[in-house]
Amino acid sequence: MESLIIRGGRELRGEVRIGGAKNAALPVLISALLTDQDLLVANVPHLRDITTTLELLGRFGARIEVDEKSVITVNAGTLTSRRAPYELVKTMRASILVLGPLLARFGEAEVSLPGGCAIGSRPVDLHVRALEQMGATIAVEGGYIKASTSGGRLHGAKIVFDTVTVTGTENLMMAASLAQGTTVLENAAREPEVIDLANCLIAMGARIVGAGSDVIEIEGVSSLSGASHRVIPDRIEAGTFLVAAAVTQGEMHLHDVNPAHLDAVTARLRDAGAEISMTESGVSLTMRQRPRAVSISTAPYPGFPTDMQAQFLLLNCVAEGAASVTEHIFENRFMHIHELQRMGADINLHGNTALVQGVKQLGGAQVMATDLRASACLVLAGLVAREQTVIDRIYHIDRGYDCIEEKLSQCGADIRRVSDSRSPRVHAVQ
Ligand code: UD1
Repeated sequence: MESLIIRGGRELRGEVRIGGAKNAALPVLISALLTDQDLLVANVPHLRDITTTLELLGRFGARIEVDEKSVITVNAGTLTSRRAPYELVKTMRASILVLGPLLARFGEAEVSLPGGCAIGSRPVDLHVRALEQMGATIAVEGGYIKASTSGGRLHGAKIVFDTVTVTGTENLMMAASLAQGTTVLENAAREPEVIDLANCLIAMGARIVGAGSDVIEIEGVSSLSGASHRVIPDRIEAGTFLVAAAVTQGEMHLHDVNPAHLDAVTARLRDAGAEISMTESGVSLTMRQRPRAVSISTAPYPGFPTDMQAQFLLLNCVAEGAASVTEHIFENRFMHIHELQRMGADINLHGNTALVQGVKQLGGAQVMATDLRASACLVLAGLVAREQTVIDRIYHIDRGYDCIEEKLSQCGADIRRVSDSRSPRVHAVQ
């Protein structure tokens, strides 16, 4: 088991290159299941969730190659299995994204139900119901979703999602690309990652219009071809580094970002007192004083992203004044509050709203990461706390942040990774 040790109180100053978006790379790599030809994907981040996805594709029998420029080629020409096993799905809920493509191309798929999740129940009922509308027969047996189509192919349908769902929209967009007839997705997710997947599918020959709006129309084709695709930059990694600069009253320049994808986040950072300038693919932030508290309320894109909620909650913990942070997307996505309180934060939780009164200084403590974005929030807390913060269970952070300690050290942070005494490696040495 590894931990991060941070000595806080240093202003962060420097430049950081932002990697490819995890949440775009996952569906794009999985879309290779829709064709028997090569899909080449560039700008894929080095993350645990990507390794899990490649392992999953490998279990189906797909061939995977990585070249010297880290371009990943996936070929799903001949598959030997259509089953996504529990041991992989439980570590990454986005595995549900294989359901639509497998069903559309092969007429059958088996995907384990994801099980419990630290940030709420996160059901997949909307994915299942929509695929049933397209003609799939779906049963849950032994913890697995078992899906098949009687006529071999799914058919087009008009699908109205009750709730905006990102992976639900992506799953259905992939399934509809190979279905017979036209599918209309209403109340579709508008996230940049959905547009990125649509662009990849279009390059493979899919007929999709409307991605980025809440109505997406997909005219199914009988087969898709190979393609090359470059994944968009990670707006959540970028947002996390901007908050790191803001809370440490530092200055940071981020390269390889799409500033338009960061609008909701940069607007709130300006409200907090940050000076922000943008180029076509870069963002600079300077914070000259203690941040002002800013209230936020999460919503589907283009609203404020739930994946930045924990980081802004932390910003409010050390800000001047008081603010509210309301979570509308996931129940129980406030696990980081208890850990921040142990570091001296003044937070009161009322239902899905956290009321935060800023304090001048947090103190270091030994804390535990509970999910991916909660871990990022604890790292930020460690950067501003006096004394030392030790964050345990940091495997969560490796799911979504590539080299976070190297990138922060480059900007002057005192942060290092250690293996604790329970680590198997340490035992082997003893
Ligand atoms: C994706 C992102 C995740 C982000 C989230 C919201 C990926 C891999 N993950 O997750 O980082 O936090 O969007 O922006 O892209 N819901 C249902 N039934 C369903 C599906 C969803 O009730 O079948 C509910 C969820 O419980 C949640 C809401 O819909 O309350 C939105 O969830 P969704 O957009 O599906 O999240 P993910 O796609 O899992």
